[in-house]
Amino acid sequence: MSSEENKLEHVAIIMDGNGRWAQKRGMPRTFGHRKGAEVVKEICKAAEKAGIKYLTLYAFSTENWKRSAEEVETLMDLLRQYLKSDLQELQEKGVCIRFIGERQMLAPDILESMAKLEEQTAANDKMTLCIALSYGSRQEIIHAARHIAELVKRGDISINDIDEKLFSDMLYTRGIPDPDILIRTSGEQRISNYLLWQMAYTEFFFTDVLWPDFNEKVLLEIIDSYKSRERRYGKIKAQ
Ligand code: IPE
Ligand code: IPE
Ligand code: MG
Repeated sequence: MSSEENKLEHVAIIMDGNGRWAQKRGMPRTFGHRKGAEVVKEICKAAEKAGIKYLTLYAFSTENWKRSAEEVETLMDLLRQYLKSDLQELQEKGVCIRFIGERQMLAPDILESMAKLEEQTAANDKMTLCIALSYGSRQEIIHAARHIAELVKRGDISINDIDEKLFSDMLYTRGIPDPDILIRTSGEQRISNYLLWQMAYTEFFFTDVLWPDFNEKVLLEIIDSYKSRERRYGKIKAQ
């Protein structure tokens, strides 16, 4: 164990298991999404209370567009409600809200609410809540690569200017430190196209708890367990 406690600035979560939670109760999958949205609110408050500066939540992946039209529509409707009520409440609490993902896929009214929230909360500094919506990490990396190629072609930068800092600044997560912790609920142990570049040295935690059952207690247990992990970054074990 290292002598210093691990820094904890950024927690990223893959909120998985809504469908299974509902099915276990003989209910449609969308019932689980509704309950899941309530948990989001609780966890944002708990994270802020725990002193976490950045919370990034995977709400909808680029691959999730392939689900049934009915499920996608319910998720988008829940999002509409969320943008109007719960996020407004967080805004009043001093939380800065950001969205990462492929915006062109989203409906105009959703885009408008997102832009408004980002603008209204830009100066808030209690915590940054980053919502990954229509997000895919490979798409994000391709987007960055194209942007950089364009800058080189225009002669704005040279090939030698391309380094980790420049590349990071071309990602949707520009300005946000890399996650210290990744949590995935529901027992699955994969990243599902989430923050591939950003998670090079993130500590992973997988829990069997389904997202609608996730709560402050589980979050705090994970944070506690993270504190005793040794982050080596390729170096030799601390003496
Ligand atoms: C996570 O729950 C929410 C989204 C992906 C939008 P799922 O809908 O993936 O639930 P499971 O994994 O099928 O139980
Ligand atoms: C990942 O969950 C995306 C979100 C939680 C938004 P999925 O349920 O879509 O992931 P896979 O399909 O099981 O990998
Ligand atoms: Mg899932």
